[in-house]
Amino acid sequence: MQFSHSAPELTDSELLAISRIVYRESGINLPPGKSAMVRTRLAKRLRSLAFSSFSDYSAYLLSDDGHTEIPKLISALTTNVSHFFREMHHFDALVDLLKTRVKANGNGTEIRIWSAGCATGQEPISIAIALLKTSIPQKYRVKVLATDIDAEALSFAEAGRYPRHMWQGLSERDLADYFDCTDQDASVRREVSDLIHYKQLNLMDAWPMKSKFDAIFCRNVVIYFDAETKARIFRRFHSQMISGGHLFLGHSERMSEENRDLYEKVGITTYLPRTSQPRSHPCQ
Ligand SMILES: C[S@@+](CC[C@H](N)C(=O)[O-])C[C@H]1O[C@@H](n2cnc3c(N)ncnc32)[C@H](O)[C@@H]1O
Repeated sequence: MQFSHSAPELTDSELLAISRIVYRESGINLPPGKSAMVRTRLAKRLRSLAFSSFSDYSAYLLSDDGHTEIPKLISALTTNVSHFFREMHHFDALVDLLKTRVKANGNGTEIRIWSAGCATGQEPISIAIALLKTSIPQKYRVKVLATDIDAEALSFAEAGRYPRHMWQGLSERDLADYFDCTDQDASVRREVSDLIHYKQLNLMDAWPMKSKFDAIFCRNVVIYFDAETKARIFRRFHSQMISGGHLFLGHSERMSEENRDLYEKVGITTYLPRTSQPRSHPCQ
């Protein structure tokens, strides 16, 4: 992101005021080290609202009219970077997991996968393609729920059209089999998009989903949360997964210390929910 010289100064107290709102609304943590990033990313919002200071902007956010600005604030501050088949080993593990599950459960099995923090859609599309490469979607009902807090990223995902510079991770074969391509962009085919249901959802809010998931991908999302928020989200994921399900995290993310008893690590940043708490150690 380019540094904008037209942005006013952002003082420590202005950053604190904005970061309190962002934390309350999204769980995203903005420590003082993020000051330059916040200043740059919000410069456009200040210009479009004709505010000359961040104090005026935060006062507006807290005013009665400010609620309409909150989604734009969050959208400006979220990082939506993603690419297809990011960490391929997770998609291999998913396919293995589901093959085992359908073998054990047989016909009528419904497969439910949640891409929590799907950004611009590459993750749920990769999940759908990985499954289409098996015979699972032909034999079983597959639903990939793809959610994100950011409405702008979600509408990009729903359009399913990826310019050439976003093709990273897709093989020529993937492009030929699952996309309609022009020189400029690749549009995801119905066969893939029919498996995915996009929905705006803030992970901090109540989750309306009633059925549990076989697998949850929440990769490169909790990296922006503090330890307490992370631990809370991991506890909620635990009750949202079937027994034997898998939780996939991003490459730099780890299970919180305090949730260690809830999950067993079964692969690289891959966690299996424990169905019952392990007995405490006899010496404890
Ligand atoms: C870096 S992207 C990750 C995309 C994808 N999961 C991947 O690993 O390639 C992080 C996403 O998390 C979303 N996010 C951040 N806070 C969120 C929250 N409270 N609820 C839902 N999504 C959130 C952002 O909008 C952003 O699209």
